[in-house]
Amino acid sequence: MAAKVEAVIEKSCLTIGEGPHWDERTQTLLYVDINDGSVHRWSPETGKDEKHKFDTFCSLVVPCKKGGYLVSVGNSVCHFDWDTKKLTTLQTVDEGKETRINDGKCDASGRLWFGTMGLEKTPAVVNKHQGSLFSLEIDGSVKKHKEGVSISNGLAWTADNKTMYYIDSIPRKVFGYDFDIKTGTMSNERVVVDLGGEDTIPTLGFPDGMTIDTDGKLWVACFFAGKVFRFDPETGKQIGAIDVPAKRTTSCCFGGKNFDEMYITCSLYGVTEDELKETPLAGSVFRATGLGAKGTPAPVYEG
Ligand code: BGC
Ligand code: CA
Repeated sequence: MAAKVEAVIEKSCLTIGEGPHWDERTQTLLYVDINDGSVHRWSPETGKDEKHKFDTFCSLVVPCKKGGYLVSVGNSVCHFDWDTKKLTTLQTVDEGKETRINDGKCDASGRLWFGTMGLEKTPAVVNKHQGSLFSLEIDGSVKKHKEGVSISNGLAWTADNKTMYYIDSIPRKVFGYDFDIKTGTMSNERVVVDLGGEDTIPTLGFPDGMTIDTDGKLWVACFFAGKVFRFDPETGKQIGAIDVPAKRTTSCCFGGKNFDEMYITCSLYGVTEDELKETPLAGSVFRATGLGAKGTPAPVYEG
């Protein structure tokens, strides 16, 4: 696989670049800069990177069918109207807990799945088991699906919607579940990819954001590894890799007109001077092409 990787939005993230979502309707890339509390909207056509800043952590952005966007702000899921800048809180989770919302994505029926994590002392070091996984249903209610999560992260579903994949970064595993799209429930947890013992942290890092291609293979951005790995969830084996010129790779999504390009975010937060010398493009958004794989449009929120 001879992927070409280029920085398309140079050094636009001041902290943790995350949550890339290709908005098919507007042909723009949405993403967030978590600790900066900002949401970004970039057009490859004009090269313009718009940014709006909230008061605290913003870790996910997904378009809403009725217009505007769902964003997380701290521990709340909110509706954001970019034209008027009006922010409306829809639901707040984990009240009284020292957590924040992290990654989130919609399933094919348009409900949002999102999780929380303990606050970090340094990157990837958290008070364990403080987080949970939730869904924001189309009627606006919230359901809790799982507790005891350390860093709630990547989500993906198979094309037939019968299987859901989910990452908790700290155990360094991708979990699989039987998924019921109608009721929005997950069951029968199993491990589909295990990155292994602590000795593999320097090479494989921590699994973070993820997406799925049309062959049902998983692409997992691995934090500290400077890679997006392609895994076969049937065998648990690594079957490909993209080298990213930044170590703290956080997430990825397919995009572009044909969904054959991959956008990759990374973090500048906690990057040392030595690391910055080695990877001066840390904090950029990258685009990988020539992958020999493609994705499908990411669902939007239907509520
Ligand atoms: C979180 C970061 C964390 C990283 C670890 C990200 O999703 O937002 O705070 O350091 O995962 O992989
Ligand atoms: Ca993430």
